[in-house]
Amino acid sequence: MDGNGRWAQKRRRPRLIGHRAGARAVNICIDFCLDRGVRALTLFAFSSENWDRPQDEVGGLMKLFTGALEREVDELDRRGVRVRFIGDRSRFGEGIRDRMAQAEARTLQNDRLDLAIAVSYGGRWDIAQAARSLAADVAAGRIGPDAIDERAIAARLALADLPEPDLFIRTGGELRISNFLLWQLAYTELWFTDLLWPDVDAATLQTALDDFARRERRFGLTGAQVGGNDETAE
Ligand code: IPE
Ligand code: MG
Repeated sequence: MDGNGRWAQKRRRPRLIGHRAGARAVNICIDFCLDRGVRALTLFAFSSENWDRPQDEVGGLMKLFTGALEREVDELDRRGVRVRFIGDRSRFGEGIRDRMAQAEARTLQNDRLDLAIAVSYGGRWDIAQAARSLAADVAAGRIGPDAIDERAIAARLALADLPEPDLFIRTGGELRISNFLLWQLAYTELWFTDLLWPDVDAATLQTALDDFARRERRFGLTGAQVGGNDETAE
């Protein structure tokens, strides 16, 4: 979700106003997923690297985050959204950690939409924590090194219980992954837009879904094998 700062700068407003506008776009995006039957949505809200932003911006984001947690959880629960947070929680204060845990416990039984909010998250962090957890099992003699294969690593990642993402959307005009779900994006379709995140609406998201629907996903196979319209297909 990129472009909050630039959205505010264009209006000569402080960056935090942009983050607030970005929070509104989050609600639009969740509504869209519920409406269209999208079952899993992962939002990259705050990266491992974002901690190094100016202190007042980080502090403002934390306040915004706490406020949103307080305001939105009832409504998310009512609408059948299961909320979880992925990332390095040890870097948050106790108050925010408690609120995150409460939101997760409260919405655990819901099954309309799996909403993962990546905070203090990095794809490299995720792979490192999976490796650490496997190494601990090896050191304790619970598994041998031979047991560490792709499936074992995938099973320890933050979103192990969800299918790998079908579609990745990046706003704000940048053409990069920026340490999002590195492992899980191996075969994800990538979609980029110059729109700044607060300007994203249902029509933008629909365009992304329509583009996605036109892609042929081969997962390393040939067009004929996946039964697409490759001209070598019979
Ligand atoms: C994304 O917007 C939100 C966060 C990273 C928290 P930015 O803050 O990156 O906005 P720009 O890139 O400065 O416009
Ligand atoms: Mg940015």
